[in-house]
Amino acid sequence: MVSIRLEPIGKVFKADDGNLLEILRQAGVSIRSDCGGKGICGKCKIVIVEANATFSEISEAERKNLTEEEIKSGYRLACQTTISGKSATIFIPKESKAEVRKISDLYREAKIELKPAIRKFFVKLQKPTLADNSPDYERLTRIFGEFEIPLELLRKLPKKLREADWEITATFWKNTLIDIEKGKSEECYGLAVDIGSSKIVCHLVDINSGKTVAKGYEENPQVAYGEDIVSRVTYASKSPENLKKLQKAVVDAINGIIAKLCKDAKVEKERIYEAMVVGNAVMHHLFFGIEPKYISVSPFTPAIRKGVSFSAKEIGLDICKQGVVSSLPLIAGFVGADAVANIAITGVHKEDKLSMVIDIGTNTEIILGNKDRLLACSTPSGPAFEGAHMAYGIKAVSGAIDSVRIVEGNVEYSTIDNEKPKGICGTGMIDLVAELYKNGFINRYGKFKEKESDRIIFSPTPRFVVARAEETEFGKPITVSEKDINEFLLAKAAIKAGWMLLMRKMGIDESKLEKIYLAGSFGRYINVENAKLIGLLPNIPPEKIDYAGDTAVGGAKMALLSLDVRDEMEKVVQKVEYVELSVEKDFHSVFIRAIPI
Ligand code: FES
Repeated sequence: MVSIRLEPIGKVFKADDGNLLEILRQAGVSIRSDCGGKGICGKCKIVIVEANATFSEISEAERKNLTEEEIKSGYRLACQTTISGKSATIFIPKESKAEVRKISDLYREAKIELKPAIRKFFVKLQKPTLADNSPDYERLTRIFGEFEIPLELLRKLPKKLREADWEITATFWKNTLIDIEKGKSEECYGLAVDIGSSKIVCHLVDINSGKTVAKGYEENPQVAYGEDIVSRVTYASKSPENLKKLQKAVVDAINGIIAKLCKDAKVEKERIYEAMVVGNAVMHHLFFGIEPKYISVSPFTPAIRKGVSFSAKEIGLDICKQGVVSSLPLIAGFVGADAVANIAITGVHKEDKLSMVIDIGTNTEIILGNKDRLLACSTPSGPAFEGAHMAYGIKAVSGAIDSVRIVEGNVEYSTIDNEKPKGICGTGMIDLVAELYKNGFINRYGKFKEKESDRIIFSPTPRFVVARAEETEFGKPITVSEKDINEFLLAKAAIKAGWMLLMRKMGIDESKLEKIYLAGSFGRYINVENAKLIGLLPNIPPEKIDYAGDTAVGGAKMALLSLDVRDEMEKVVQKVEYVELSVEKDFHSVFIRAIPI
């Protein structure tokens, strides 16, 4: 057993000897581990400050990812290092911290008729007498008709009715009685949740008015087990304990958000009766603790497609004891309930015009169609848009370079929160690649051209200096290399190949596309002209592109407030034609052609 002091947070804890990344995960410490601990990404850097312990030898992966200077200064990759001994002080450098990213403030509200699954009724019941000694349940059925009641509530029913002197508020989820309160109570809340691979967004919704009363978000803590969802599936599939760990991690994070939202809005968590959860198929399975393995291997089968509802207690969600956790249906493969939520809120399934919904993330989901036909695919864009696999790539956190312009050879950039730059996030990369191309620094394939500029360093590998050492947070220049650009162009090509194949299946070209909805926080901040220039988005006029914002949580909210929306979405998923890109015979050739700018 080793005692570990973590700096700069000052946390001290004891752990069994073992792998440092695993020890940090177990201790609930957020640290970047984009490759899931495979020794590839180099993001899980830690510094051993002092130790009365033994560490594993420096591995090959560490020699590849750390500079000589870093190794001399005590840097290690947590995933490659095992520790045994008595004590150690470990420093987590800023670049290794998993930070909470920004989300868009914008989310689409659709007008719907309130028809929630949750309903509250204040009733005065007849007290039992010798002349009328029928059971408590029957007394309630005289008002509500036959209904279901969970055993736990039935056990308390006699006492609750009598303590309330037969004047109660009964809360129903559909036809199940889930709560009884003394007297009149109108407070009625629900939770709309979007579980993204990178972040979790929650809205606390007043069921009576349909309004969001508080919203919050958190980094998805599963990131510590792998930035991309395939790494998480691999981890979860290794053992039931691993699956449980991932399930608990996400449930704990949502419970943390619930506690904060309830505090902000002064709402008791017992007054939250239903949570409507959306997420891609893997996030959905991991949240419910369902084995996700078969989603990621051919023929890519989820355990269930239709929308589900389970007891919140069974899931571990901290809302009303008899509350319910529901989910919208999935489509297929990796296209999950978040994509269904995107359909619900954009209404593409009801329109005449041909529209495309693109939700860019670690996995990008694309929907194309109208009321007559809908196609869907998921494309493994990889975490490049989240900054992974690039030397200075970071998520959209404070200090991330989020937009870039090159004017007469000078670089102008902005950073999130106007902080000193500490890396480049996805939107910054879109601009940077487009600007490098427009200004003749790189060719269509992302290779640097011979050009006179003090911004280009050719040795040891060609790099472009985006921010000079004196401008940055850590006193080193932020650069982008040909390898970084190549990584980015591959991710872009995966998305472009996705929408090109869907358009081909639909028998249309870009000129027939009447609308693009950019879903998700990422889409909110994209410079569409640059995105079109590099081929990330179809080339259609800007007025036909709609920044739709956090559509997934908006769609979850619609479903929370309307049983009709749930029914409608069950019908929609039946008619969506899912296109599994990995088995499309043209995918590879389309992908290759989609790489150049
Ligand atoms: S190198 Fe350690 S997590 Fe990627």
